Amino acid sequence: MWPAMITFEHVTKRYPDGTVAVEDLDLVCPTGQITVFVGPSGCGKTTSLRMINRLLEPTEGRILVDGNDVRERDASVLRRDMGYVIQQAGLFPHRTVLDNVATVPMLLGVSRKEARRSAAEQLERVGLVPELGKRYPYQLSGGQQQRVGVARALAADPPIMLMDEPFSAVDPVVRGDLQREFLRLQDDIGKTIVFVTHDVDEAVKLGDQIAVFATGGHLVQVDTPERLLAAPANEFVADFLGGDRGIRRLTFLASDRVGLDESDVVDSTVAPGLLEALGDAGRDWALLVGADRHAVGWVPTSGVPAAAAARPVERTFNPAADSLRVALDSALLSPAGRAVAVDDDGRVLGTAAHADILRAVTDEVARSQRVEAAS
Ligand SMILES: Nc1ncnc2c1ncn2[C@@H]1O[C@H](COP(=O)(O)OP(=O)(O)OP(=O)(O)O)[C@@H](O)[C@H]1O
Ligand SMILES: [Mg+2]
Repeated sequence: MWPAMITFEHVTKRYPDGTVAVEDLDLVCPTGQITVFVGPSGCGKTTSLRMINRLLEPTEGRILVDGNDVRERDASVLRRDMGYVIQQAGLFPHRTVLDNVATVPMLLGVSRKEARRSAAEQLERVGLVPELGKRYPYQLSGGQQQRVGVARALAADPPIMLMDEPFSAVDPVVRGDLQREFLRLQDDIGKTIVFVTHDVDEAVKLGDQIAVFATGGHLVQVDTPERLLAAPANEFVADFLGGDRGIRRLTFLASDRVGLDESDVVDSTVAPGLLEALGDAGRDWALLVGADRHAVGWVPTSGVPAAAAARPVERTFNPAADSLRVALDSALLSPAGRAVAVDDDGRVLGTAAHADILRAVTDEVARSQRVEAAS
């Protein structure tokens, strides 16, 4: 087990009007990992998050950071160790983007010049060009504002990041970019992150572990995304994860054991007899490759292998890096019904039929169940 960093011990939060927002929460958010809180609206995600940095206090129970009760520390000092990103980025409207990011380090006593220098660095880290630093928040797109929010939370280099639906206000394409950049950044910085979202896909993509809450502030299940999808604790969790649970699981299965066939990979110098033989063997298509072994496209085995007539390969998969979900998608998008496997340099390794991929799925699922049973 990972060393604990943020620990909830029997935490209950009752608001003055009697609403129980969080009930008897026991949870460990491990060091250097992303813990995602998901659940329906009003289930206590924000309340739980805000108790970590003492914007709210628990009614019962306690929250520990590295074994120490957060209530023993001065709230303002505690918050310096915790970057906090909220839904609408929460930027200061009357300060430039650069000064928004430089604010916390300056409060910590860093000189203005130094704070601005490191702010410029943070902006670059989250993928914003330096010129944007001179603008005011209203002059940025929603996605850019959210990046500034993340940069600002990172500026004081806190060990903990609390992020409350930080990417929810942007369209799905920008959101995908932000998620990818966020994961790349986390690879570098390895913070302990608590990340709130409504979105199951986002949770599965980002979470090292996912905590599923139900209305009334009950924690229903905590698990890795993979195990959550494979074995939801009850119907509520299964419903919440949605209908594509089986397909989503493919994301976690490696494609390196898919059996590959090279016999239908040809270049333009292929002997006509070979295409005919492929046709006789029931293959309607051959994959034409260039001299560099990069895919040109699918050509009918009944014709000549001409690049001009080739049907494009829309998606390939790299067995060393991609999941079975990518492999299956590659097969489904191909006129031949066959996925195209490539190496790191994009050179074709071979092709695989739907059936080969589904066989690999069955094998991988059985293998992960054996691993599960053994652990
Ligand atoms: N100040 C308050 N006084 C009374 N009840 C409150 C207060 N703040 C929040 N609540 C209630 O506590 C419950 C949990 O709220 P919270 O904001 O933690 O939910 P959430 O899971 O973050 O929801 P969402 O996904 O909509 O952001 C809700 O029922 C909410 O109405
Ligand atoms: Mg909320």
